[in-house]
Amino acid sequence: MKITVVGAGAVGATCADNIARRQLAQEVVLLDIKEGLSEGKALDMFQTATLCGFDTKITGSTNDYAKTAGSEVVVITSGLPRKPGMTREELIGTNANIVKGVTDNILKHSPDAIIIIVSNPMDTMTYLSLTTSGLNKHKLIGMGGILDSARFKTYLSLALDCPPNDIQGTVIGGHGDTTMIPLTRLATRNGIPVSQFLDAETLEKVAADTMVGGATLTKLIGTSAWYAPGAAVAELVESIVRDQKHIFPCCVALDGEYGQSDICLGVPVVIGKNGWEQIVDYKLTDDEQAAFNKSADAVRNMNDVLKTLDM
Ligand code: LAC
Repeated sequence: MKITVVGAGAVGATCADNIARRQLAQEVVLLDIKEGLSEGKALDMFQTATLCGFDTKITGSTNDYAKTAGSEVVVITSGLPRKPGMTREELIGTNANIVKGVTDNILKHSPDAIIIIVSNPMDTMTYLSLTTSGLNKHKLIGMGGILDSARFKTYLSLALDCPPNDIQGTVIGGHGDTTMIPLTRLATRNGIPVSQFLDAETLEKVAADTMVGGATLTKLIGTSAWYAPGAAVAELVESIVRDQKHIFPCCVALDGEYGQSDICLGVPVVIGKNGWEQIVDYKLTDDEQAAFNKSADAVRNMNDVLKTLDM
């Protein structure tokens, strides 16, 4: 098993680190356009092998896609990260060209790869990758919902003062500050609805904090977050390479599910060795469906911007 991570910035490097520590592959290739960056980070990480107890080989490549040949899973993190005050959507012009070029290069050398998109605006970058590559839709997965759900569960555990792993919760819709939909109604603390423990006002605050979860970190750190994004990617990669069939909210191509088509958006899917294997088309309440439709409208507007770009 060979896994490639494109982009050796903080998010990409943390993805590679998490994937190696979980021993999800024999080899992880980290690729970046910046001379020496991926080689340096890969070597630094590989030097933790005997300290952290993994044998996954980590190698770096400065833009030489031949070194990624035969990868079974590829994670694309390339592009500019957010700066404080920026939305993910403002990155579209720069990142669209980068993500399209990376997808083309990857598929030249690994035509059968399952591709995970992390670059922002993620829902639109996933749609771009899918529509320009012609790849089987099951092999294109945008990573946003797992991360947003992790943030949702963390904020719930803080409000409840309980262990984070006692919480179940899902965020669907777009991976944007105003497009994501924390499904508070379905969140539980060990199977008991969180509404049994928290009042409506607190639950609204948890949902609001979740939606700006990434922006809050960008403001504090000065750039986009990486620990939770890297761990979220590893969780997704693990379900693929170990064929675990976990249900995760992921950005995938909708074909009538949840009332939407010709769009990639976050919904619960079964993740296994074939990529996303099945969409769990769960019946939403009227309010949730209305929020989902609004989210789809916003993402579709962003997708329309692609048509105006010179690619
Ligand atoms: C975030 C980026 C990865 O939400 O979109 O932190």
